[in-house]
Amino acid sequence: MQEEIINTKNEALAQIMEAGSFQELEDLRISYLGRNGKFTTLIKKIKELPSSRKKQAGISINEAKNTLLRALASQKNHLKASARVWFDPTVPGILPQIGHLHLVTQAIEEITRIFTQIGFVRVRYPEAEWDYYAFGGLNMPKEHPARDEWETFFVDVPHHPKFGQMVLTPHTSSGQIREMERTRPPIRMLNIAKCYRRQSDVSHYPMFHQFEGLVIDKNISIAHLKGTLDYFARNFFGPKRVTRLRPFHFQFTEPSFEVDVTCGVCLGKGCKLCKGGWLELGGAGMVHPNVLKAGGVDPKVYSGFAFGWGVERTYMMKSGLSIPDIRLLYSSDLRFLKQF
Ligand code: FA5
Repeated sequence: MQEEIINTKNEALAQIMEAGSFQELEDLRISYLGRNGKFTTLIKKIKELPSSRKKQAGISINEAKNTLLRALASQKNHLKASARVWFDPTVPGILPQIGHLHLVTQAIEEITRIFTQIGFVRVRYPEAEWDYYAFGGLNMPKEHPARDEWETFFVDVPHHPKFGQMVLTPHTSSGQIREMERTRPPIRMLNIAKCYRRQSDVSHYPMFHQFEGLVIDKNISIAHLKGTLDYFARNFFGPKRVTRLRPFHFQFTEPSFEVDVTCGVCLGKGCKLCKGGWLELGGAGMVHPNVLKAGGVDPKVYSGFAFGWGVERTYMMKSGLSIPDIRLLYSSDLRFLKQF
């Protein structure tokens, strides 16, 4: 009997040490210590022993049962501890979704690359700007009707004693005088900034971007302006898109032009976006002598040209894009944005 008790205990201990789950341990407990388990069978056999060996057999069985209970508890703790630190490095991770730059940012980067290649320097000027830089210094006296074309947002703060009222800049031309104050000719400025106007329809948005070129040097002529515009159109739109200059009026340039390009949606046939086959890129012209003077530049020595176009509209006119409504760009609709 003693030998049987020791063998059964050793057999159970070996299996408990090998068990890899709580379920296996529970199965072992039942098969050795349960109501019909092996030790219960051994206890039942005690009564068949001679009286002199009964007591010792009872003690040995109890000791063996206690040893097994301790081994079961210890193996359970071991399994719990290893479950906490278990880490499988082969399980594939969760890939974060990778986005991309917004298409207006992409356009700004491309425009910057094209102009910096021919010596333009990118600058930034305030979005909340004084009247003087947005209008007054650009040859637009107070109450001048030309100001009406820039449907301006006014900021309700005290007026500056010299520069007047604060506005959300309605165009990047507000950087012209600031650039002349910052540096002296030769000037090759590329000012790309947010602009604000009280407008919203298929081709207008209340917050949009313009890029403004300003070149001031000795002997700058309209030929330099035309050459720069053609260079940009070829590089940005491709050789198939055609541009034209229309005589126009801006207070801060003389002569002034509107620059148009054939529409990228209908390629010149006429559609909802362009109404006539042409899309207006923006204005251009030779810097007005009064503006040079306001910037401290002598118009008898220096001349210059400037142009200011909408980034969104310029991008929408690119070959292969059919964006029929400018408001889509800012709709935050991923179904639209993911296409670019
Ligand atoms: C101007 O803003 C002049 N400052 C441009 C200029 C610069 C002329 C230098 C001469 C010399 P205009 O108001 O036309 O011009 O605007 C220029 C372009 O900005 C427009 O052709 C259009 O492409 C874009 N634009 C204007 N308003 C909006 C708007 N609400 N939403 C989107 N784009 C706009």
